[in-house]
Amino acid sequence: MRIAVFGCGYVGLTTAVGLAEIGHQVTGVDTDAAKIHSLQNGKVPFYEPGMQELLARNITEKRLQFSTNARLAIQKSDVVFCAVAAPSSRKSITDLSAVLKVASDFALYSDSEKIFINKSTVPVGTSDEIARTIRTKQTKRTPFFVVSNPEFLREGHALKDFFHPDRIVIGLPEGSAANANKEPNRLKLTMRRLFRHVAKNGIPLLFTSLRNAEIIKYASNAFLATKISFVNELAQFCEKAGGDIKEVTNGMRHDPRIGIHFLDAGIGFGGSCLPKDLGVLLRTGKTARVPLRLMKSVKDINDAQPFQVIEKLRKKHPRLNGKKVAVWGVSFKPDTDDLRDAPSRLIVDKLLKLKARVHVFDPVALGNFKKIYGARLEYGKDAYDILKDADALLLLTEWNEFSSPDFKRIKKLMRTPLIVDGRNVYDPAELRAQKFIYSGIGRS
Ligand code: UGA
Repeated sequence: MRIAVFGCGYVGLTTAVGLAEIGHQVTGVDTDAAKIHSLQNGKVPFYEPGMQELLARNITEKRLQFSTNARLAIQKSDVVFCAVAAPSSRKSITDLSAVLKVASDFALYSDSEKIFINKSTVPVGTSDEIARTIRTKQTKRTPFFVVSNPEFLREGHALKDFFHPDRIVIGLPEGSAANANKEPNRLKLTMRRLFRHVAKNGIPLLFTSLRNAEIIKYASNAFLATKISFVNELAQFCEKAGGDIKEVTNGMRHDPRIGIHFLDAGIGFGGSCLPKDLGVLLRTGKTARVPLRLMKSVKDINDAQPFQVIEKLRKKHPRLNGKKVAVWGVSFKPDTDDLRDAPSRLIVDKLLKLKARVHVFDPVALGNFKKIYGARLEYGKDAYDILKDADALLLLTEWNEFSSPDFKRIKKLMRTPLIVDGRNVYDPAELRAQKFIYSGIGRS
């Protein structure tokens, strides 16, 4: 199929590269000319494992191209994906201007029947607004369909999630959603062709209404966020009650009703999705006059969670003024250089406020961190480089390379052998045996 993907961020680029890889003819479109230029030259503008190779291959094999020309991309495509940013701001619950601009372009340039598939995370009712926009802006009555196809990929695993998703949710306009699971119709068949790699592997394509699809996206992220805040709150209880959250969650996660994933206590959830989507859900709830009390608690727990690390640090160093604090890992999770809503930033801001000397190292995100903090921090060449005479080491992102470090070397380098393990990576008994002062999250 001939496909245009608008927006070349994490979701858009993964969609474009993935669809090209399974044989479709894809054009990635973005208004950022520098980004398009870099993609045309086979360069991925962010860190995502495996993306570089697949991008280069699909460009060379002529299934994938990039352009800033919306008109041409729309006219030569049967399907237009919208994966542009829909940020949350103080003024509006979600800024839909980029999404509605793609809808307007679609209306203006579409010259034959086409499908508009929205992948941007947008509040419930937006697909209807997209359809209204297209209808209003059209000069001719060219037939079209609006479909909602929320994305569930995780940064750091984006391609893996594209090729092996748990499910594909497809919200169809009224009329086509009815009986779509029983009775094949044209739209449903097209969606199956589009995602044939998934359908052929037996992964479910779940057809539903537009609004349900939109709600499923928020509900899924909010549920994941709830699991994390649940364990983070339980971690505080474990600390006081003489337990270890790691062992407690191990004892829970084998129950399939609870599930094995997203039960790791830590410094709180960050990234561009969970915090934003939870915020949007809360604000939409307010508009709908539904208080969403549980969601509010999930957010409150998460807002406070990063500061646990500071509390633990201050148990040993009540005054952090002038203390050297070494930080391992700043990205919001491993395998990404993304710092959006990264809890590390709240922690580093607080340390700077308390006048600590902060030295950081991250295997991938250091360059981006430097753009934010500049000369206010010291940046290490490697993990050990920042440990000399350090008064504490904070582990904030569980990159693989931090999982089995040379503790003897660490001990020799540090002035005070204090490790605050924000991700519960290390074995407390082993570290205490090596005479470290160890503090994890939820481990008494
Ligand atoms: C999240 C969802 O997992 C994806 O399904 C969704 O598609 C995506 O948002 C989105 O809406 O675009 P992502 O933001 O890449 O994906 O990150 P996650 O892997 O969900 O991690 C989010 C945060 O939770 C990270 O800061 C991570 O460290 C934290 N986390 C995760 C925990 O603290 N404990 C856990 O057990 C799991």
